[in-house]
Amino acid sequence: MARPATVHVCSDCGHSSARWHGRCPGCEAWNTLVEERAPTVPGGGRGRAGAAAATSAVRAGRPIRLADVSTERVPRMLTAIGELDRVLGGGLVPGSLVLLGGSPGIGKSTLTNMALGNLAAAGRRTLYVSGEESAAQIRLRAERLIAATAGALDVPVLAETDLDTILATLRAERPEVCVIDSVQTMHASDLTGAPGSVGQVREVAGRIMQIAKSDGIAVLLVGHVTKEGALAGPRVLEHLVDCVLQFEGERERTYRTLRALKNRFGSTNEAGVFEMRSGGLVEVLDASARFVAEATGKPGSVVLAAMEGSRPLLVEVQALVSPSELVPPRRVVTGLDRNRLALVLAVLGRHAGVGAGNADVFVNVVGGVRVDEPGADLAVALAVASAVRGVPLQTGGRTAPVACFGELGLTGELRSVGHADRRRTEAAKFGLRDVVCPESAPTLRQALRAVLPARAPQAA
Ligand code: TYD
Ligand code: MG
Repeated sequence: MARPATVHVCSDCGHSSARWHGRCPGCEAWNTLVEERAPTVPGGGRGRAGAAAATSAVRAGRPIRLADVSTERVPRMLTAIGELDRVLGGGLVPGSLVLLGGSPGIGKSTLTNMALGNLAAAGRRTLYVSGEESAAQIRLRAERLIAATAGALDVPVLAETDLDTILATLRAERPEVCVIDSVQTMHASDLTGAPGSVGQVREVAGRIMQIAKSDGIAVLLVGHVTKEGALAGPRVLEHLVDCVLQFEGERERTYRTLRALKNRFGSTNEAGVFEMRSGGLVEVLDASARFVAEATGKPGSVVLAAMEGSRPLLVEVQALVSPSELVPPRRVVTGLDRNRLALVLAVLGRHAGVGAGNADVFVNVVGGVRVDEPGADLAVALAVASAVRGVPLQTGGRTAPVACFGELGLTGELRSVGHADRRRTEAAKFGLRDVVCPESAPTLRQALRAVLPARAPQAA
């Protein structure tokens, strides 16, 4: 059988070529050619003549006034995993395509297995398609989940990587909810590219989306992301799907955060915290309490009143500053934006007289949580300053975990961030009454003066 024709199209300039080139012959950009199915024009014609013939046959569409558009409310399907339903905006929408991204080993298969199990237990038709594991492996995992997920063993599975077979199965089985694990392992036989290449990933997602929309199947598409978030990854699909969820955390640690990066049916401000246990993922509803209880209150430690979506979350930020043998010295961050550390160190040195100089600086958000918001600046600054001086932070003259939040301006001022009240309330709930924030200290210098004694106790 002859392979359907494919073309290689430059993703920058649109130049198309029959062969693959490392460098686009049109715009000379590197690595931009992506394989796609050759466009077929009705009547067999190709190019301008065919396009003109096709245009005359096409009838114009009829725009409708928005007020006349009918909007029947579709009932959502609840996965019975509270945090997941909340992040989705109140459950799965029939016919929607949800992309669940995350690094390998984070728990995507576990989460989707549990969701399908719950849906199956609620009487929904489900299907789990895996291109990564055999049916036996999936069963073994489901057995671990059975205690928390009643329907874990009732989910029909298909171990398959061929896209046409998967689409045919979807048409035959007509599930209400389907998981494709993962989009990078599926293979469209009419493209020559390897599974996981940009062209393949796009084609697979595009064709699954067609069937999701036409047959009203809610599809959870699992995708791997690398640490950089790039690599032919789910990023190329973000514009296509209805909802992008990101599952993040460190694989070796137990806590994971689920966040919506895009949601056509709800807010992108939602996030949920999970813990990986031996019986699957467990929702963590008291994350603040745990992190505050574990906070050390030692030099270099501070509690950040962060916002995880619309919910406040207290996390401990720790810093270590130690003499370096390297030029330039190390700047290592976990759970925070690396560039913000550089900025905070510069502001600390320039406007608060706290220089890290040639020392190595390590900053870590405890528990494997990732904090992605400007409000974390002040926590980094206080933790580093406390580590540089070797003095624990204190409030009201006594050493205790100190809570803070605020964005750092380049001139050393503290800038306010959203939800100040809710952050303060959350801190107060766990006994942290004196919160250092832009409202209490307008500049970084004042913030430091409030919680950091001038010298180490032994030197005073
Ligand atoms: P998995 O869901 O397979 O990750 P992903 O699909 O994102 O690659 O699970 C990742 C890890 O979780 C795996 O190393 C084993 C561990 N795990 C548990 O600790 N408890 C469990 O109940 C399950 C099912 C997995
Ligand atoms: Mg998996």
